[in-house]
Amino acid sequence: MRRLALLGLLLLGCDGDPVVDAGAPDAGGADAGDAAIELDAGQPPPFVEDDRWHRQAVFYELWVRSFQDSDGDGIGDLAGLTSRLDYLADLGITGIWLMPIFPSPLADSGYDVADYVDVHPDYGTLADFDALTEAAHARGLRIYLDLVFNHTSRAHAWFEESRTDPTGPRSDWFVWSDTEGLGCEGASGPFGETRWTFDDVRGQFYFHQFYPAQPDLNFDQPAMRTALLDVARFWLDRGTDGFRLDVPYRYDEDLPVCVHRPGTFEFLRSLRAVTDERDAAMVGEILASPEELAPYLADDVLQMGFLLAESALFSVAANSENASGLGRAFDELVAATPTGGAFCPVLGNHDLPRATENVSDDPGALRVMAGTLLTLPGVPFVYYGEELGMRAGAGVIVDGRDSARTPMQWDATPTAGFTTGAPFLAVAPEHATRNVEVEQADPASLLSHYRRLIALRNATPALRTGTYQRLASARGQLVYWRRHPDGDRLVVASYARAATDVAVSVPWASAEDEITDAPVGAVTDGVFRGSVPAQTVWVLREP
Ligand code: GLC
Repeated sequence: MRRLALLGLLLLGCDGDPVVDAGAPDAGGADAGDAAIELDAGQPPPFVEDDRWHRQAVFYELWVRSFQDSDGDGIGDLAGLTSRLDYLADLGITGIWLMPIFPSPLADSGYDVADYVDVHPDYGTLADFDALTEAAHARGLRIYLDLVFNHTSRAHAWFEESRTDPTGPRSDWFVWSDTEGLGCEGASGPFGETRWTFDDVRGQFYFHQFYPAQPDLNFDQPAMRTALLDVARFWLDRGTDGFRLDVPYRYDEDLPVCVHRPGTFEFLRSLRAVTDERDAAMVGEILASPEELAPYLADDVLQMGFLLAESALFSVAANSENASGLGRAFDELVAATPTGGAFCPVLGNHDLPRATENVSDDPGALRVMAGTLLTLPGVPFVYYGEELGMRAGAGVIVDGRDSARTPMQWDATPTAGFTTGAPFLAVAPEHATRNVEVEQADPASLLSHYRRLIALRNATPALRTGTYQRLASARGQLVYWRRHPDGDRLVVASYARAATDVAVSVPWASAEDEITDAPVGAVTDGVFRGSVPAQTVWVLREP
């Protein structure tokens, strides 16, 4: 269970099995201890061209409520976000995932949707959403919306109808029982142990995998599934470019089994058909082992799936100066997942502690984690404020996860430039030094580092879709080839807090690092040798 323990605040009512083990040396001697050794890559894996848009993207996750307020009510809104699109375009990201923007009582920060086809009045109107989409597209940015289809809010009209009209057409769109039935196998966590709540009006219990305010939809109901497909069509028709799916691996259940059910895959295939008509893509929040993730990334299911459990391995590597667990996890993922599907590495998200907190705010750790995130295979997602080194906030409205959801920090003013009013959630500490204005002016800032890395990824096919092949290395290092017909790159990432030596066989006469632009190491007799400074990532190529 070590891996799930590492998930910390990942509040999913988890039921996954342990998948990754963080620290032990690699079996088969892939770790080389602390000495420098010569490395030979052997046969590279076959390259498969994939020029689909999402495979080239770097995404940015944000909460509209926390990003930018435009009207002084202390709450972020769509017009505020639109006014900040230039910042995102300049950062180099190409896709934006918006946490739920729909009408909601906010019992779970919007993951309790009261109406799937409208905008929360706090955030604006459908016209504001259209304006955002248009402005984003004009800058080459795509918008992904968060579809929460496992459950609705108790305030959704479908639930109201289901509880008040037990013989009506939507009676069974939710899961009802006269008695408290079974829960989900292995479920636990901050959403509580109870999975059934009594409804006075209907006189029955309804099933919920999350908070009682989030009744589960019943995927056995064909009309309900059709209604959800219509929701997807509604947003695609408005120009939405794709979707992040909330807990899609939990859609269908056969209690006590709540995950990875055949009915879930059947629905996802029908959703895929709808999105394929519009060239949209989907990324699923799937808490699973690589083997469990693989079928979700099949050609007719989802294009992308998050690596949630693996997110903790970046900070484990930084804290322990041992990257072998992280390296092995990616070896396993590459081996287990289909070629066309993309996994999505993250350092954090709205359910997890901020990256700064995972590494006790060690600036070197943040830099090497970012350098790894943005050079590994897959489609990386950056969580808003991560690029600034934002700290945890202290205020709580819904639950402890609010510490990672504080207002975006734009400048050194008391409200961080987020609002002219009183922010709905207090800004995090140290915003006077960690903000866009200050960090943009400093070439050595974390923000400048992220910009450089994202620009490099955007300019380098090998970093986006090149093959991945990790080499044996010292424990603190991750060394991997990213190979592409347009040019290969050799990534050397060091999580050690002191300089370490590296030696790699290369088919090059010399090598240069594209991140620091400084001469690093030398190639002699087909071997690149160098001394990697502490907590540094090199992206090497032949000049
Ligand atoms: C997902 C979301 C989380 C939410 C839960 C229930 O895990 O990321 O924020 O609380 O689903 O919708």
